[in-house]
Amino acid sequence: MMDPSSLVESVAQLIAETTSLDGLHDVQVELLGKRSALVAARREVGELPGPERPAAGQRLQAVREEIEGLLAQRRAELEEDQRRGRLGGDRLDLTEVVTGARRGRLHLVQRTRDELEDVFVGMGFVVVEGPEVETDWYNFEALNMPPAHPARGMWDTLYLELGEPETVLLRTHTSPVQIRLMQAQGPPIYAVMPGRCYRRDTPDARHIPVFHQVEGLVIDHGISFAELAGTIETFTTSYFGPHTHSRLRPSYFPFTEPSAEFEVTCSICKGKGCRTCSHTGWVELGGCGMVDPEVFAAVGIDPEEWTGFAFGFGIDRLAQMRHVIADMRILLENDVRFLRQL
Ligand code: DAH
Repeated sequence: MMDPSSLVESVAQLIAETTSLDGLHDVQVELLGKRSALVAARREVGELPGPERPAAGQRLQAVREEIEGLLAQRRAELEEDQRRGRLGGDRLDLTEVVTGARRGRLHLVQRTRDELEDVFVGMGFVVVEGPEVETDWYNFEALNMPPAHPARGMWDTLYLELGEPETVLLRTHTSPVQIRLMQAQGPPIYAVMPGRCYRRDTPDARHIPVFHQVEGLVIDHGISFAELAGTIETFTTSYFGPHTHSRLRPSYFPFTEPSAEFEVTCSICKGKGCRTCSHTGWVELGGCGMVDPEVFAAVGIDPEEWTGFAFGFGIDRLAQMRHVIADMRILLENDVRFLRQL
């Protein structure tokens, strides 16, 4: 028959080394279950000579109780561990400081566009939008550029494979929205038309192939070049501040006659002259002029009764100048280090 004290010793170790309640259950089955050594020993007791049986039986019972005690104690320990683990996991730390989610912000180009709209709305203009996919007629022909007109070369155009070749394109400027507006609504018109434009340009510090323009159109009785110049100067000082001014220089656009380029005081040297402005103190911002009678003819407005002016310039370029951004490509890169600081 087995030695009860050495049995208890090894059993105590086995129980102490058990680290889970499930494991402990298995150990219990092994030690006290039907197939256990203890139950086998009880059977052997039955085979002992009568007088020896009670003492042997008592010893076995004592061993059994000792094992049960050890199991109960270990079970209590493991249950306590489990409870502690659960509590730790569920614990709410009411002192924890949770910083709110970081707020994003509008892209600089969008903000510039919003500010521009505010300035023009304040001057009495309405804001109108048009499609980015245009037909050749709206982008060129109605703007006094019949097919093969040399001025079309001023815009490197991206055509879509849709319909007849070179009839559907990504608009190269916002000027087609003028045409759509004049068709949809007769004069008087006081509107600005911001939006995205596309050109087959190689990106560099001052050009990106996807960019934004804002177009302006005013048509009314007796509108003259003086109103055009005054509008551009008012817009320039409201947007850039009182120290930035504008000037017009003769130029050419097929849809205006006469045409001009408008320039604003260089934001780098404040007009003194530097490399950026080729030492002139002025930086070109956009084009403008009096609406050409051919454009009025394309949309059926009587040029004897109405006159008007138009202008157009780059929103990205404007943001570049006001925020003194060396390279325009950064506007497309979405580098949060750039976006966050503005
Ligand atoms: N559409 C011209 C361009 O993209 C800019 C422009 C010039 C717009 C003269 C006008 C204008 O409305 O009158 O280069």
